[in-house]
Amino acid sequence: MNAQPSLVVGDPIEILDAAAEPAAMVRFENISKTYPAHRGKPGVVALRGIDLAIARGSITGVIGRSGAGKSSLVRLINGLEKPTAGRVVVDARDISALTGRDLRLAQRSIGMIFQHFNLLSSRTAADNIALPLEIAGWSKADIRARVSELLALVGIADKHDRYPSELSGGQKQRVGIARALATRPDVLLSDEATSALDPQTTRAILDLLANINRELGVTIVLITHEMSVVRQLAKEVVVLDAGHVVERGHVADIFTHPKHPITQSFLAEVTGDSLPVSLAGRIVQEPGGQAVIRVQVRGAGAGDTLIARLARELGLDVSLLSARIDEIGGRHVGALVLGIPGGEGAAARTLAWLSQFQISAERLGYVA
Ligand SMILES: Nc1ncnc2c1ncn2[C@@H]1O[C@H](COP(=O)(O)OP(=O)(O)OP(=O)(O)O)[C@@H](O)[C@H]1O
Ligand SMILES: [Mg+2]
Repeated sequence: MNAQPSLVVGDPIEILDAAAEPAAMVRFENISKTYPAHRGKPGVVALRGIDLAIARGSITGVIGRSGAGKSSLVRLINGLEKPTAGRVVVDARDISALTGRDLRLAQRSIGMIFQHFNLLSSRTAADNIALPLEIAGWSKADIRARVSELLALVGIADKHDRYPSELSGGQKQRVGIARALATRPDVLLSDEATSALDPQTTRAILDLLANINRELGVTIVLITHEMSVVRQLAKEVVVLDAGHVVERGHVADIFTHPKHPITQSFLAEVTGDSLPVSLAGRIVQEPGGQAVIRVQVRGAGAGDTLIARLARELGLDVSLLSARIDEIGGRHVGALVLGIPGGEGAAARTLAWLSQFQISAERLGYVA
């Protein structure tokens, strides 16, 4: 039998090894991108040695600060930019090697949505959605039928004849999504598509994208600088900084065990790691009273099991000071804040006991 004790069960990480995975929808092979010097401005290295595979049917969030290289990375996927070195393989085709008509044909299977929607103001919602179909040479009747289907899919069947100026931001992005899906792409790229929207509209658009992924099986690559967007929609996360992938993994792992300082700084904005004010104000560093220990938990019910076993096996009168459990990427993750009586020794024994299960825990201090 496996002697390793286990309280935590997780899914395998779904991000694939770039080299090993032929089933990837998108594969970056040792990609570098340098924008050349231009009109006296020096050249810019935007991406450096990226090896990354994006699984077919997945939703991958790409996060990073301004200038990290996010947009450069997605523009390589649809061939809007060419790599300086390396290959970008999309659905087994080397898109970076395609030009002209071959590139335009390949681009029909890769849709894209944008922060500012990029709709033509002189065309109605229906005619904006029709544009890629006109370019692809569809018949008028086929276009009419497909456009109606798409308007219904994105939930704005009643906006057929509206111009962009008559639509809200969320409705404009729905038109953008319908247009991106018109030619039935396998991949949908989203570059900050919710950044111009309020939180409620953002939520609705992210829900729509989740449905599209589930029902149509479209692989989604989502660029954002907001961890809350990643948390709501993505299953896999790639963290970019200064043109490097600095961290990647399942969204639940990234949220519970961020390794890179950049990831940690993004997370600080969104996690409910902050303690209840009433508790935070009482914590002191001199030993005494109860030790306050924060424990990361994963899996529904894991917290209950943990407290019961801890109390029983160490013979401690554990109290629960605060708890927060979220569902992230389909997994339950959260943090418990425990009160442990018995001074420094009991706190140290608790931390040692937890570490045998590879559970992250830290002593925050003591409360009277
Ligand atoms: N067409 C271009 N010509 C020259 N430099 C560029 C070009 N596009 C991007 N860059 C530079 O490449 C680097 C990466 O830019 P990129 O747009 O990929 O970053 P980003 O992560 O999308 O940033 P943001 O969050 O601000 O959109 C930046 O230093 C940027 O100034
Ligand atoms: Mg960008």
